[in-house]
Amino acid sequence: MSSLFDDIEKVLITEEEIQARIAEIGQELNDIYTDEDLPILVCILKGAFMFLADLTRHLTFRHELEFMEISSYGDDTKTSGVVRILLDLEVSIEDRTVLIVEDIVDSGNTIHYLQRHFAARNPAEVKVITLLDKPSRREVEVTPDFIGFEVPDEFVMGYGLDYAQQYRNVPYVGVLKPEVYQEDTEKD
Ligand code: IMP
Ligand code: MG
Repeated sequence: MSSLFDDIEKVLITEEEIQARIAEIGQELNDIYTDEDLPILVCILKGAFMFLADLTRHLTFRHELEFMEISSYGDDTKTSGVVRILLDLEVSIEDRTVLIVEDIVDSGNTIHYLQRHFAARNPAEVKVITLLDKPSRREVEVTPDFIGFEVPDEFVMGYGLDYAQQYRNVPYVGVLKPEVYQEDTEKD
C-alpha cells in the first residue's frame, strides 16, 4: 500500500532537529519576555499551527494566543505576491507586544504586509518568529527576529507546511519527488 510518505524525496530537517531548535527559541524568548509584557503570539494559519503548538509549550512567561489566516499561495509552489486576510484578529493590539509566529518567510510579501497591517494599530512592538527562512527568494526586505532554520531555494513541505493542502501532518521538513508536482501539472 502506498502512503503520502512515499511522495517524499528527502528529509531536510529531522523531527529531532526541529524540536531541539524550538526548545532553544523558547529559551531565548523566556530570557527576553516577562509576565508584565504579556505578549500576544499571533499564529499565521494554516502553516504555523504545528510550530505554535510546540513553541507555546516551552514558554514560561504569561502570553496570549491569537490566530490569523493569510492566503498568499494557491495550490501551487509559486508565490502570487498577492496577500489576502482570510481571518483577522478580533483583539486590540494597541500598546501590546505582538510576536508573529510564521512557518516560512519566502518572498517576504506576507510578513511585509502584516508588519504594515499591525503598525497601523499602534502596538508597543512587533517581532517575527519564523521556523524557516528562505532568504534567497526575497522580493521585499524583511528580516525575521527569530529564525529556526535557513532553507535552500527548494519548495519544502511538512511540519505544518503544505503542498496542495496536504502533507502538513508530516513531523519533519522535506522535499517532494518531482513527479508529485508533474502529476498535478498534467491534471491542470
Ligand atoms: P511569502 O509571502 O512569499 O514570504 O510566503 C509566505 C507563505 O508562503 C508562507 O507562510 C507559506 O505558507 C508559503 N510558502 C512559501 N514557501 C513555501 C514552501 O517552500 N513550502 C510551503 N509553503 C511555502
Ligand atoms: Mg503560511
